[in-house]
Amino acid sequence: MQTCLASLENAQYGVAFSSGLGATTTLMHLVNPGERVVLIADVYGGVYRMTSQVYEPKGYLFEYVPAEEFPNLRGRLDERTRIVWIESPSNPLLNVVDIRAAADAAHDAGALVVVDNTFATPYLQRPLALGADAVLHSTTKYLGGHSDVVGGFVATNDPTVAERLRFLQKSLGAVPGPFDCWLVLRGVKTLAVRMREHCANARRVAAFLDGHPAVERVLYPGLESHPGHEIARRQMRDFGGMISFLATSDEEAVELVARTRIWKLAESLGGVESLIEHPARMTHASTADAPFAAPGNLVRLSVGIEAADDLIEDLADALAAGRVATRVAGVGETGDSRSA
Ligand SMILES: Cc1ncc(COP(=O)(O)O)c(C=O)c1O
Repeated sequence: MQTCLASLENAQYGVAFSSGLGATTTLMHLVNPGERVVLIADVYGGVYRMTSQVYEPKGYLFEYVPAEEFPNLRGRLDERTRIVWIESPSNPLLNVVDIRAAADAAHDAGALVVVDNTFATPYLQRPLALGADAVLHSTTKYLGGHSDVVGGFVATNDPTVAERLRFLQKSLGAVPGPFDCWLVLRGVKTLAVRMREHCANARRVAAFLDGHPAVERVLYPGLESHPGHEIARRQMRDFGGMISFLATSDEEAVELVARTRIWKLAESLGGVESLIEHPARMTHASTADAPFAAPGNLVRLSVGIEAADDLIEDLADALAAGRVATRVAGVGETGDSRSA
């Protein structure tokens, strides 16, 4: 499996782990206490939980840079910075970072660049070709593709990094089981077909949500209005299957995610079935005290490969029910009912 996944990233070396977080913690062992890691601010909540609650108390230094400040990344790096950690598109805000520019800045400062390519997959984006030193995957997601496996993976072309990761893989022990490796190998056989469907469906769902009266803003790099759209066009083949959007209120976001029927309310992502979730209470609850806490009215969608018409109809019904509920509540509160 290591050889197969490395080849997808056009990498010479691949190291497999028991989970995406297993891969993450192993990469963090390239860093020593007193050294810095600079991360994109809206990093996956589980990574933030690890950096803030496991490694920071041990003396590791972390700085979180918002995506819009990445053009000024050089100013945030110093001689203690060991890794620049990027998610592009990021989880959950779907921010996009210019990987080549970030790699140039990081290398000038003597730091390694790690790109978490879980959202894009190697079908849509090859970070090593853009200058990254290591690419990380939660194979739990698109590479597995069927929500029935937990795994992680790191690809690199750097022999020193590869050798150290192999040693750490063996020494720390976050290794995958053989059946899980088999499931991932089965999954990648359909990666290209699945990704084309995820992208096509996401494009239609994003277009439906964009401008919907019950949606404040859609975060999808495929929309021309997205601030990272041009960069995404340059460094990705297509825009992926993840969409986030802002509902009209925190309460409506919480209720909306429980109202859909085809979109299942669940964490995780990247499987063939569509999922909906509320990051502030679920995947990103651990960012609640961070300056970049997931907004309370944020809803995240993992767009599956079902019929796009069905997915849109389900969302349309769920959003409409919210508007009716708001109107009814409004009538109750103000007594301002002219028609009834
Ligand atoms: C972008 C990203 N990276 C890493 C992880 C961690 O992966 P795992 O759940 O396999 O530990 C996740 C999990 O949601 C993720 O979304």
